[in-house]
Amino acid sequence: MSTRRTYRWPQPLDGQRQRLWYGGDYNPDQWPEEIWDDDIRLMRKAKVNLVSLGIFSWAKIETSDGVFDFDWLDRIVGKLGKAGIAVDMASATASPPMWLTQKHPEVLWRDERGDICWPGARQHWRPTSPVFREYALRLCRQMAEHFKDNPYVVSWHVSNEYGCHNRFDYSDDAMCAFQKWCKARYGTIEAVNDAWGTSFWAQRMNDFSEIIPPRFIGEGNFMNPGKLLDFKRFSSDALKDFYKAERDTLAQITPDKPLTTNFMVSTGGTPLDYDDWGDEVDFVSNDHYFVPGEQHLDELAWSASLVDGIARKKPWFLMENSTGAVNWRPVNYRKEPGQTVRDALAHVAMGADAVCYFQWRQSRAGAEKFHSAMVPHAGENSQIFRDVCELGDDLRKLSEAGLEGTELKKSSVAIVFDYQSEWATEHSANPTQKVRHFTEPLDWFRAFADLGITADMVPMRSDWDTYEVAVLPCVYLLSEVDSNRIRRYVSNGGKLFVTYYTGISDEHDHVWLGGYPGSIRDVVGVRSEEFTPMGDDFPGALDHLNLSNGAVAHDLADWITSTSPDATVLAAYQAEERTGMNDVPAIVVNPFGTGKCVYVGCKLGRDGLRLSLPQALDEMGVGYPREADAGHVLRVERKSEDGRRTFLFYFNRGDDDVKVEFEGEIVVSSLVQSETRNTASISPNGVLIVKGQ
Ligand code: GLA
Ligand code: GLA
Repeated sequence: MSTRRTYRWPQPLDGQRQRLWYGGDYNPDQWPEEIWDDDIRLMRKAKVNLVSLGIFSWAKIETSDGVFDFDWLDRIVGKLGKAGIAVDMASATASPPMWLTQKHPEVLWRDERGDICWPGARQHWRPTSPVFREYALRLCRQMAEHFKDNPYVVSWHVSNEYGCHNRFDYSDDAMCAFQKWCKARYGTIEAVNDAWGTSFWAQRMNDFSEIIPPRFIGEGNFMNPGKLLDFKRFSSDALKDFYKAERDTLAQITPDKPLTTNFMVSTGGTPLDYDDWGDEVDFVSNDHYFVPGEQHLDELAWSASLVDGIARKKPWFLMENSTGAVNWRPVNYRKEPGQTVRDALAHVAMGADAVCYFQWRQSRAGAEKFHSAMVPHAGENSQIFRDVCELGDDLRKLSEAGLEGTELKKSSVAIVFDYQSEWATEHSANPTQKVRHFTEPLDWFRAFADLGITADMVPMRSDWDTYEVAVLPCVYLLSEVDSNRIRRYVSNGGKLFVTYYTGISDEHDHVWLGGYPGSIRDVVGVRSEEFTPMGDDFPGALDHLNLSNGAVAHDLADWITSTSPDATVLAAYQAEERTGMNDVPAIVVNPFGTGKCVYVGCKLGRDGLRLSLPQALDEMGVGYPREADAGHVLRVERKSEDGRRTFLFYFNRGDDDVKVEFEGEIVVSSLVQSETRNTASISPNGVLIVKGQ
């Protein structure tokens, strides 16, 4: 269980009412000052009320060692503040200047082969460098002293996306810090030896000084997985310690200003254990970049729901998203008409009380000049800027209707996300490289959405066991404590889904013995003796398995060799005898205490889950909308604590218009045709927001 800091949210400027925050990263230092007044005119036109400033400005603030220039920053903060635009001020420490790294090359991080990461981009520093820490904290102190009485600075934006480029550092500084971290975690070198299973391949260590980071071991070789898992934990912690030092330096001087640092929660975005980091911020903020294609809305809603889970349902801050294309993918797709507004409102639906972009004005030069912005290259007369203005208007209407401070209503279904299981399933010596923790939660989220249920994404450490239904999707690592928590949940009446590849190993990645899933076999009522991976990399290899309920399994299935006497098989495989999988149970329901557990022993994907879920939900006695088109709309509800304010959000998930019935007043709509007082038709990429009565 975690301990969160007291929730604190950036407060409005003097004389202003609390509103949803709206704006973006603002980089006035990339532009001649003549343009600043025009920026502010356009911000006002778009109803922007906050910008993040100074994120990459270290070189312009500390022009040489110990020489600080705040004049330009004061000028722009003053202009913004007078125009009623608040500032989320960066610590400015994200990217060190050239003079610093020339003077102290020992702050640069090293890759696994020991090569130096040179300046030329950003984040070329190592969190464990005492020298870098000294410089960064000095800048934090200067920033805090300078802005402590500035009424326009409403929050601190500490560094930027920690670990985006410098997640792993293999330098000697990192080595020393890793040794200390192991000592603090394990106490004795024997305990480290046990945890990492060093009897294997003669890796036994006699002393903490023999611990080295998982440096290059030659192509095609296999790193000790225990060490690798701990190095991921350590790397998240090393950056976290650095963040805490920056945060505390700022907080000591400006105790009244809330602090955050922007996370990168999205599918596959697992460089840091963001749920653990959630303990250390005053309010959670996130950067999200859309995934093009058919999963666009679902992936966004999934990520935003996970952020909401990390924020423990307190309102959170969307620190960055994009008005259109990014420029860091091989192909940088545009958004379709309506998606700029829809995406932002989908984050709001899932609990965001702030919508910000990277960045305000699209750059002319530099590595992100083709990344979209609020003011694009085309300027004010552009569809993007018109969308930005429309959104500003929508957020104002939502504020006036009283949306901020309401929380995403708790769903009946929790889908668990576990950072550490994701890390462990990434390792190279596993039953298959086709299975990772993180893909499975999205498939479940989408399958429930297809049935008309918007599930909550809930971190493993949080309160998933207070939901009517919980899903453990490929939660590969289960400690004894977590296994007992699962046991209690179901025996006290919980309705639990567990998938293949859950509960395989303990927290050290030591396999639970006696048959999979070793630590919770009694709960799930199945015993699997072997994995059945599937693939198409050899002619004639088993590449899929058909289930008796019509679903099709890919990538991995359990060879379930026995089920408990009380269990019922809901679906079995239909395969050629020679595969050994014919009639083997695939989906099994098992009563346990006063609850029930459904075990899904293979990867079914969204389609197979959608097909299999109704029967499983019926078995468990869980209700769901029965209308055939319930899944065409993503329905989300936000509510005030006293229950007086309710907002309903309806998003079209598909490619055709969809009709909705609602009760209440329409507050915001985009690509919607109102039909009667209580019905409307939502076009693809459209959204309807209604205030309940
Ligand atoms: C990240 C960074 C921003 C910018 C955007 C867009 O989220 O924080 O500085 O680079 O990506 O690529
Ligand atoms: C080789 C090695 C063994 C073991 C096996 C299985 O044969 O000699 O130690 O690693 O491969 O991978």
